[in-house]
Amino acid sequence: MTAQFPVVRPRRLRRTPALRRLVAETRLHPSDLVLPLFVKEGIAEPQPIASMPGVVQHTRDSLRKAAYDAAEAGVGGLILFGIPAVKDGRGSAADDPAGIVQKALRDLSAEVGDSTVVVADLCLDEYTDHGHCGILTASGEVDNDATLERYASIAVAQAAAGVDVVAPSGMMDGQVAAIRTALDEADYGHVAIMAYAVKYASAFYGPFRDAAECAPQFGDRSAYQQDPPNAEDAMREVLLDLDEGADMVMVKPALSYLDIVRRTRDAVHVPVAAYQVSGEYSMVEAAAAQGWIDRDRIIMETLTSIRRAGADIVLTYWATEVARSLRA
Ligand code: PBG
Repeated sequence: MTAQFPVVRPRRLRRTPALRRLVAETRLHPSDLVLPLFVKEGIAEPQPIASMPGVVQHTRDSLRKAAYDAAEAGVGGLILFGIPAVKDGRGSAADDPAGIVQKALRDLSAEVGDSTVVVADLCLDEYTDHGHCGILTASGEVDNDATLERYASIAVAQAAAGVDVVAPSGMMDGQVAAIRTALDEADYGHVAIMAYAVKYASAFYGPFRDAAECAPQFGDRSAYQQDPPNAEDAMREVLLDLDEGADMVMVKPALSYLDIVRRTRDAVHVPVAAYQVSGEYSMVEAAAAQGWIDRDRIIMETLTSIRRAGADIVLTYWATEVARSLRA
């Protein structure tokens, strides 16, 4: 008897780069990527962010340049975070028509036109002196419904500044409905909502809080963001946001929550975005700076896995770089 060798050989399709390319189930494309950008009021030069090597807080001028570069590389969208010079209890700068974010949104629309999508993060933590995502009660809790009024007003201000999409990230109950109503009443029915539907209370946001200067001055966000052990709660939030009128839903962070990305993709019929957050970025950059990992391959592998899990859109600080490399 001759030895029984396998007849079915999956390895045949892995033999050459051309074969692997032909049978690849998941592809990255520049237009699926969204670049987060930070703009800071009152600085003369872009400021490096120590915990996010390669990412800066932009001036209005350097922001335009970064937006131009991203659009030219074919990046699908930009999402803007503003850091005002003055913060207060109610985050007044967030909906000030002359506030930094509204000015910068106008700059962005002028710079990129229709060549890419302009998204505004819609939250209060970058604008409040206490660093929480809403208005506080006397006892220091975030007051859900008082915060909704602020979000509604911010949405209208961002719409007036020309955004295509607002992305509410504060995790207040009812925020999508409040924002949808406010936009419609102000005649901004065309502005879409990308809801941060699933947003875990995550340590992966650590470096972002340096970038946006928004670390909570007391406590944490566990009373409004989601608890990492829970998946059903995430699905409940997704369905609620769709009921309230979300046009797209986002899951955040990405890499530790790929199961939630997949469940969301399977549960809904709208575009699903995933946010590869600051900590995911910084871990790779830090290990790469030590020479411990192959930076470029890890970046592609993480992005591919997020897409394979079901994200149609990926927010990533590497968007421009990756878009260029995909086009090269
Ligand atoms: C809140 C907001 C945060 C991030 C995006 N929007 C921070 C937070 O909830 O503390 C985090 C993004 C990142 O870590 O890259 N406005």
